[in-house]
Amino acid sequence: MSGRIADPTRWREGAERIAWARTFMPATRAIGDELAAAGTVRDVRIAISDVLEPKTANLALSLAEAGADVAVSCVGRDTDDAVAAALAHAGIPVYAFAAAGSAEDRENVLALLGHRPDIIVDDGSATIRLAHIERPDVLDAAIGATEQTTSGVRPLRTMERLGELRLPVVAANDARTKSLFDNAHGTGQTVVFAVADLLGEPFAGAHVVVAGYGRVGSGIARHASALGARVTVAEVDPVAALQAAFAGYAVLPLVDAVADADILISASGVAGTVGFEHLQRLPEHAAVAVGGGVSQEIALDDAVRRGAVEVSRSGKVSALRIPGGRTIRILDDGHCINVSAAEGNPVQIMDLSFGVQLAAVAYLIEERDRLDARVYALPRAADDRVAAAALASFGGTVDTVSETQRAFLDSWRPAAP
Ligand SMILES: NC(=O)c1ccc[n+]([C@@H]2O[C@H](COP(=O)([O-])OP(=O)(O)OC[C@H]3O[C@@H](n4cnc5c(N)ncnc54)[C@H](O)[C@@H]3O)[C@@H](O)[C@H]2O)c1
Repeated sequence: MSGRIADPTRWREGAERIAWARTFMPATRAIGDELAAAGTVRDVRIAISDVLEPKTANLALSLAEAGADVAVSCVGRDTDDAVAAALAHAGIPVYAFAAAGSAEDRENVLALLGHRPDIIVDDGSATIRLAHIERPDVLDAAIGATEQTTSGVRPLRTMERLGELRLPVVAANDARTKSLFDNAHGTGQTVVFAVADLLGEPFAGAHVVVAGYGRVGSGIARHASALGARVTVAEVDPVAALQAAFAGYAVLPLVDAVADADILISASGVAGTVGFEHLQRLPEHAAVAVGGGVSQEIALDDAVRRGAVEVSRSGKVSALRIPGGRTIRILDDGHCINVSAAEGNPVQIMDLSFGVQLAAVAYLIEERDRLDARVYALPRAADDRVAAAALASFGGTVDTVSETQRAFLDSWRPAAP
């Protein structure tokens, strides 16, 4: 069988953790079962590029069990080798191993595209974008793609605007059951806990600066604050900045906010958010982490070019001496900290995100004759279906709209006086 993994013998270890995660994924299971019953994905070639851990493995297995021809790739730093082995053991070609460097990561994505997928399920849109550069032939024969995160959707919208997008894409990230939960809850919690674990220091009493107060940044600020931190927000969008002020946080330009920061977390998803001028102003031993997750969100390459030197390293914490500044700590080389240094979002949260991805796959197939090379929102009914499947497991039951309410909602005429 094709594929490229580190150690096939570790499959049992991976399979046990995948089975455990599955028990907490009712929405993914329910929508996967619907796809299987309807035969929607039968013999459809589906390529998944995502963080490779037990939750994502359940997305892949759900599609495979529903009859799809699935293949998977992942960058080395986000790959769990035991999980990769378990998927390979289940008959799914996997191109991912933890020791892969950037050249091998690229080879793995190209090998994935070699399966000529009908649908690409992506996280960060690196695979969709590489396909536009290296394998446009694959895209021209494809049904479409779905994209899981904010920083992946943004460049796809740019491609659409420039007329360079070659296939329909569902912005899975923008579904309410995705971004209102994964971005706003799961990421805030897991980024703060990952930073706390790596530093081994309390958030209580610390000054935490959050760059970017979108869905992820507001979650980070809320969780840091709940642990007793004093939080300052830096924002470039006046409305988001106002929301931060209404939530009770100080709001300052980043260059001012960092001057007495203990911990700086970037949640913008924009390269260069933490620039050399910010690193220079940070106090001695301040820690810098990324919760957003694009390359060079902390402009480390530029800092090194300007003379920054790593003076020591302890596990995933490196000490960087900044010329004209002090010695600060960088967490896991500026990678997306809750994924690269921890287990990613909680399983109940990823259940929603992967339920949305499955619903997006179904939408692409069912509407394939009507979709153009554009970025589409997931229809509200599909979003509602994911939420309903998950709500039951939280012990909740949704109410219904009465006939009177429906008549009111459907009418534009003012009520009789
Ligand atoms: N780590 C994870 O598990 C995880 C999960 C979901 C999303 N993400 C990523 O987190 C990032 C943010 O996602 P989101 O959904 O919150 O996006 P968002 O668009 O809701 O918020 C981003 C915010 O950052 C602000 N911003 C942009 N540049 C800035 C700058 N230089 N300084 C200060 N603020 C700036 C924007 O104005 C915006 O308000 C994205 O890269 C997304 O892909 C990570």
